[in-house]
Amino acid sequence: MSAILCLFMLLWWQPAQAADDIELSEEDVACQTCHDGKDHLVKKTEAGETVSLMISTKDFLASMHNETSCTDCHEDIDEKNHGKVEVPMESKRAYRMSYQDSCTTCHKKNVAKYKDSVHAMLVSDGSDKAPTCSDCHNSHTQLSIKVVEPIANVPCANCHKKIFEAYAQDVHGLERVAKGKSAPICADCHQSHAIQAASLGSALKDSCLTCHKDAAAKHEDWLPNSGRHFESISCPVCHAPDAQRRVNLRMVDAVGGAQLLEKKGVPQFERLTQAADDGNTSLNERELRSFLKEFNLENVDNKAILNGRLEVRSGVSAHQLAEKEKALKDCKICHQAGATPFQSVVLTMAGPDGRAMRHGVEKEVLNSLTAMGTMRGFYAIGSTRIKMLDYLLVLVVLGVLCVPIAHLTANQLFKGRREKLKAQRQAAQTAAEK
Ligand code: HEC
Ligand code: HEC
Ligand code: HEC
Ligand code: HEC
Ligand code: HEC
Ligand code: HEC
Ligand code: HEC
Ligand code: HEC
Ligand code: HEC
Repeated sequence: MSAILCLFMLLWWQPAQAADDIELSEEDVACQTCHDGKDHLVKKTEAGETVSLMISTKDFLASMHNETSCTDCHEDIDEKNHGKVEVPMESKRAYRMSYQDSCTTCHKKNVAKYKDSVHAMLVSDGSDKAPTCSDCHNSHTQLSIKVVEPIANVPCANCHKKIFEAYAQDVHGLERVAKGKSAPICADCHQSHAIQAASLGSALKDSCLTCHKDAAAKHEDWLPNSGRHFESISCPVCHAPDAQRRVNLRMVDAVGGAQLLEKKGVPQFERLTQAADDGNTSLNERELRSFLKEFNLENVDNKAILNGRLEVRSGVSAHQLAEKEKALKDCKICHQAGATPFQSVVLTMAGPDGRAMRHGVEKEVLNSLTAMGTMRGFYAIGSTRIKMLDYLLVLVVLGVLCVPIAHLTANQLFKGRREKLKAQRQAAQTAAEK
């Protein structure tokens, strides 16, 4: 026992010793004579902010960059004049942006993923709020991502404060605090670098199912065609019990079914919805149809149809998931005339960066058969007033549920009629031959 204990102690002790052994190179020690001194070194930016120039040697040595030299990242330090001649700094943000490409040499993969994200697109469109690498990582103090930090240290919390607060109190946030990494934090659902707009595609839903592998089967126990429900209802609709809900009519390609993205620099959605909408508030059935017609005239290659989906109305409520006992189970919440989730309808198209652009639609559109022509595969039985469709779908459902019985019964019921028809057909055929 004590031998094993000793071995463990040794194994545990060695890396700690190794970390202690790491020392700054001579070159870096030189930097730190000024940057980790007792005097508080600060700098004023032209925008009026105060930037601390103190770099803690202790934190730096504990960080993942402890074997990276200062000048690997700060290549352009002018040895002769540095620290003696003042160099103007426009603003903190501008300074950070000047290091935007400095990580590429060593972290190519992450840079490539990030370049594909909604954040990077916002930055390249001139956003001064969307993050670059340094907004999420402090190069001088970055710990290993294996270290489980308090959830409040997640970089996303700085900018998506309300969502973080909601998350911190929901099933996952609480579980994360209690049990650590098995429960998801922002990046486990959204990814950390290739972050896409939330309502684009099905990546978020798929991420739920990578952890909750048996969820589809468990829902199937009580929810008929749960696959279909999953396709057209975002998980938080049922799992965030207090959320407000709405129908989102997403514009998708008639052929592949992929969401249509507005081309950069070619504004169509806003222009065409405005043009179609007399009152500029929400589209009625006629206006929606004329909008689609105009849109399809301009986009002959990608004919747009609508794909309905139930979703929560605010980004915050998507992060208020509750324990399963509180989830919506009552079919009537959706399958009933006047069902509340169907009282609010929006039309959306994905903008150039994937984020949704929206325009209101009158809820009566859902009741109209003609509008349905452009809306393949979204119809919640009972929620609208198209009685004929209700009856048809109830029949379909009954059919699915009791195919064998229905089959036999129908066989019996229609036996006489079928034989009569057969005889008639034969008679007609012989008449024709004659
Ligand atoms: C892995 C790359 C990297 C290494 C290694 C690194 N830095 Fe930095 N440093 C940056 C980046 C990126 C910024 C600008 C972004 C920011 O504000 O964090 C920066 C900013 C600074 C600043 C301006 C103040 C500030 O925090 O914004 C000082 C001073 C500085 N570094 C000194 C050092 C010194 C001294 C060392 C070595 C002990 C060092 N850096 C090592 C990447 C690095
Ligand atoms: C003699 C002291 C001294 C030494 C040595 C020194 N610095 Fe500085 N450093 C300063 C001062 C002072 C400033 C503020 C200059 C200003 O206001 O323009 C500064 C600013 C910086 C900044 C902020 C951006 C800028 O250019 O203003 C970075 C980054 C930085 N130093 C990195 C380093 C690195 C890396 C080394 C080692 C290679 C180093 N410094 C060595 C004194 C020093
Ligand atoms: C929006 C915030 C955010 C931005 C922007 C961001 N990261 Fe990250 N990064 C994270 C988070 C969160 C993690 C750890 C989460 C995880 O994947 O487990 C991480 C992990 C990493 C890791 C270690 C894990 C790995 O995949 O190798 C590296 C290296 C890294 N980031 C580099 C970068 C670089 C370089 C950039 C700029 C191109 C960048 N990050 C931009 C949030 C961000
Ligand atoms: C000169 C090479 C170099 C540069 C430039 C560099 N890094 Fe690193 N970085 C490393 C090394 C080495 C590690 C140690 C872990 C490893 O091998 O991935 C590391 C680790 C990291 C980690 C933690 C990875 C983990 O697995 O926990 C993050 C996050 C990170 N770097 C972000 C950045 C960011 C952001 C920048 C740009 C501001 C940057 N790095 C620039 C060399 C570099
Ligand atoms: C359990 C998975 C999960 C976690 C963890 C998670 N999200 Fe989300 N997030 C979602 C889902 C699902 C949506 C809604 C997508 C939809 O429209 O169906 C969403 C939407 C968003 C949106 C878009 C909101 C809007 O206004 O449309 C942002 C921003 C966001 N999340 C940021 C975060 C941040 C920051 C964190 C961490 C504090 C986080 N998310 C944690 C699953 C998650
Ligand atoms: C420096 C600030 C900043 C940080 C840090 C940050 N974001 Fe963002 N993020 C933004 C801004 C600004 C937008 C665009 C405005 C918006 O939609 O909220 C955005 C947009 C998003 C969107 C798209 C929202 C939509 O409408 O679909 C998602 C998803 C998202 N962020 C997730 C994250 C996650 C996850 C993290 C942490 C890994 C994170 N963000 C870190 C500033 C930030
Ligand atoms: C129509 C509403 C509805 C939708 C849509 C829905 N759920 Fe559920 N879910 C429920 C209800 C109700 C329960 C509790 C069932 C019970 O009583 O056992 C549940 C249970 C769960 C459970 C717990 C399973 C268990 O018994 O261990 C998980 C995990 C879950 N859902 C995840 C998801 C995910 C992920 C999605 C999206 C892909 C989703 N749900 C979509 C209503 C829904
Ligand atoms: C990284 C893995 C992971 C991801 C991704 C994830 N979850 Fe979870 N989820 C957990 C863990 C762990 C728990 C708490 C333990 C449990 O009850 O299963 C949990 C709990 C839940 C519960 C409560 C179940 C109950 O028994 O009361 C629901 C509902 C749920 N998750 C839905 C979702 C939805 C919806 C998504 C996607 C938006 C999602 N989860 C994404 C790991 C994950
Ligand atoms: C949160 C709202 C919601 C709840 C709760 C809900 N449904 Fe649905 N259901 C829908 C929507 C929306 C559709 C339309 C799906 C489509 O056409 O894409 C649908 C479709 C259906 C269909 C047709 C499926 C098919 O194969 O086309 C049946 C059957 C059905 N629901 C039965 C039920 C039953 C039974 C319950 C209760 C156990 C229930 N639903 C609970 C929203 C809901």
